[in-house]
Amino acid sequence: MTHIKPEGTLTWQSPSNIAIVKYWGKKGVQLPENPSFSLTLSAAHTRSKAVYRIDPGLDSPKITIVLDGVDQPDFVPRISQFFQRISDTYPFVNQLDIRIETHNSFPHSSGIASSASAMSALALIICEIAGHSEDLAEVSRVARLGSGSACRSVYPYGAVWGKSGGFPGSKDTFAIGAGQRMHDVFKSLRDAILIVKSGKKQVSSSAGHGLMQHNPYAPTRYRLAEERMLVLGDILPAGDLETFGAICEREALELHALMMCSNPPYLLMEAGTVEMIKRIQAFRNDTGTAVYFTLDAGPNIHLIYPDSEQERVHGLIRDELLEFCENGRWIDDHVGTGPEKINLS
Ligand code: DP6
Repeated sequence: MTHIKPEGTLTWQSPSNIAIVKYWGKKGVQLPENPSFSLTLSAAHTRSKAVYRIDPGLDSPKITIVLDGVDQPDFVPRISQFFQRISDTYPFVNQLDIRIETHNSFPHSSGIASSASAMSALALIICEIAGHSEDLAEVSRVARLGSGSACRSVYPYGAVWGKSGGFPGSKDTFAIGAGQRMHDVFKSLRDAILIVKSGKKQVSSSAGHGLMQHNPYAPTRYRLAEERMLVLGDILPAGDLETFGAICEREALELHALMMCSNPPYLLMEAGTVEMIKRIQAFRNDTGTAVYFTLDAGPNIHLIYPDSEQERVHGLIRDELLEFCENGRWIDDHVGTGPEKINLS
């Protein structure tokens, strides 16, 4: 803590990520019930500029958040809670007078969760104030305390969060980079994010994690997640896309099945989600195209496919899927190289 910068302006851009093996269920202070693996995205990102000053006269942080030029007092409690969680290692946050101007590359109401990209960008800002934003394990630990999935966004290509026998060195307290263990076919995957429905979800991810505590299928779920991580540990370096795709789809449907088996049960898929899934599977069976779907905790489809299938998959989107997208909206994303510090002149 010797290199704290007492005031300044810092800007970081950090990407969203899409989990292939999902984090769903947590314990303690933001610790995962099972290990997860995600691909780091690129086009879907948050850029946050922080103008701050450490004011020794303050005993609690003074936070202003502005999204696309509009003040967002509703976001402040979550940031305050985050600061509270990190204040043991970063006591300066209690004296932070900070204004965060943030912008998502994807529309705010697109139904894409911004917590992973926003919280990882904020973790980078905090770690840079503390003078160690290059220590990605620490940035990841800090990001985790803001939002679980955020801890995976700090690495290029892909990341593993949660202790797994498939990934030596993996831990519950922070994510590790998986890029070195990923065959080139995985590092150049693309993700077409098909927006089925935008707007606020009826059950938040945080509430969904909570419902796992009494879900009767939870122990089986946690075991299956680890089994799939063991398989991923083998197939990521080998480049076995078919097995990867099968895991990807099983995980998506299992995540939503867990929601349907919660008490109370709930459903986040829309009719368009189901129809698209059927069409994607039929297209793959008919044409042999390597294209797979996944879902996060919402109705939108992530279409995962290798670079080499781009033309065929864009044809599939245009001819068969776009009609189910709200206002024809989709985001043409791909695996990316992680966060970037932005030097504004
Ligand atoms: C379905 O990271 O949004 O996207 O830790 O409460 O902020 P909090 O939850 P969050 O949960 C993400 C759940 C998921 C799966 C995943 O990203 O692994």
